[in-house]
Amino acid sequence: MNDILPEESGTWRLVEEIVRDVIEAYGYREIRLPILERTEVFARAIGEVTDIVEKEMYSFKDRNDESLTMRPEGTAGMVRAGITNGLFHNQRQKLWTVGPMFRYEKPQKGRYRQFHQFDVEAMGYEGPDIDAELIILCARLWERLGLGRLSLEINTLGTPDCRAKYRAELVHYFSGVKNQLDEDSIRRLEKNPLRILDSKNPDMRELIAAAPVMIEHIDAEATAHFDGLKSLLDAADVPYTVNPRLVRGLDYYNLTVFEWITDALGSQGAVCAGGRYDGLVEKLGGRATPAIGWAMGVERLVGLYEACGGIPGLQDVDIYIVAVGDGALALGFAAAENLRDQIPGLKVELNLGGGSFKSQLKRADKSGAAYAVILGEDEIARNEAGLKPLRSAAEQENVALDALAGTVKARLEH
Ligand code: HAM
Repeated sequence: MNDILPEESGTWRLVEEIVRDVIEAYGYREIRLPILERTEVFARAIGEVTDIVEKEMYSFKDRNDESLTMRPEGTAGMVRAGITNGLFHNQRQKLWTVGPMFRYEKPQKGRYRQFHQFDVEAMGYEGPDIDAELIILCARLWERLGLGRLSLEINTLGTPDCRAKYRAELVHYFSGVKNQLDEDSIRRLEKNPLRILDSKNPDMRELIAAAPVMIEHIDAEATAHFDGLKSLLDAADVPYTVNPRLVRGLDYYNLTVFEWITDALGSQGAVCAGGRYDGLVEKLGGRATPAIGWAMGVERLVGLYEACGGIPGLQDVDIYIVAVGDGALALGFAAAENLRDQIPGLKVELNLGGGSFKSQLKRADKSGAAYAVILGEDEIARNEAGLKPLRSAAEQENVALDALAGTVKARLEH
């Protein structure tokens, strides 16, 4: 679980603002959700026999002996909230949220126990047009952020009908090689054979690579949906690869699944991932509602932004007020308030805690401010302030106090 320090949080904010902008440009509305849900919300949605539910959830009993869990992902809570608040009654919804998620995983670069996701979900849309739009949204975002080195993998997990047939094939295949399976996979063979396919155990890799693939078992409905998606992506010039081995680690998916992968972040290459989950609303107690969405890891997104040379988001002040001598501090307070009043959004830091002219100017320089406003005895006697550029060789100028805000504004705009 990481602290995000002031040196980093400027870039986080810059990136987050762009993500918000792009998501909202597609008509999604923000929803804010609790971090805790009843454990059963996640167990039912994500699936009892998955890594997340079996091994990674932070769960505990509250004072009423009820099992609660710190959300490991956003989709289950979003669906729960939609049902609780009647958001899906004869309506379609396009929703987004952002915030911390928690998984008890083995920490490594790009994989943390507290991480952050942007989560975008569309409920009530059946056809592949929304699948395509959600992916095109990402492509626009990469462009806005100046990101390269991302590729798109897509796959289809079929309809529940073809999934049942495929399941039988998988059981047949893995039963034939049962003596080579690890403990988890043997257990999953009975309960949830599809989850063997996303085992993280390297010893299982070869067996999994030789297993039958879903895409060869899909029915006409799934084929039509997948073809529809592909032709919309082609028309929008969004390149993709079909990866028949892409299965995702959560149980709720059907039809479309996809991941945006990068080679710039080491082994944790998935920056954004999602898919369709047409059965989930009903499974959690709502009326059957088709749905699809994706989640983007903010740590990985920021990491990629930096790896691609994105400009850092600075949190410097604009103006630092140096106030030396009797009466200067009180005048400094008034000047600072006046600047904040006159120039909305301006960041003004007033020197506090005294200090010589030299030491205050040093602090001014360190603050990152573009200008120091200097209030010394001479300036006060003349009813003026000194305006000293800190980032250029330009000369200091003297400005009448009542013209200070106007001059600062003009200089900053210049
Ligand atoms: P997920 O693949 O588990 O899907 O996570 C989505 C993204 O969250 C990953 O691609 C990655 O960028 C980030 N992420 C996941 N775990 C970690 C971690 N431990 N540390 C850092 N980043 C991580 C979901 O969560 C689904 N709810 C996505 C979805 C939304 N499907 C439909 N709607």
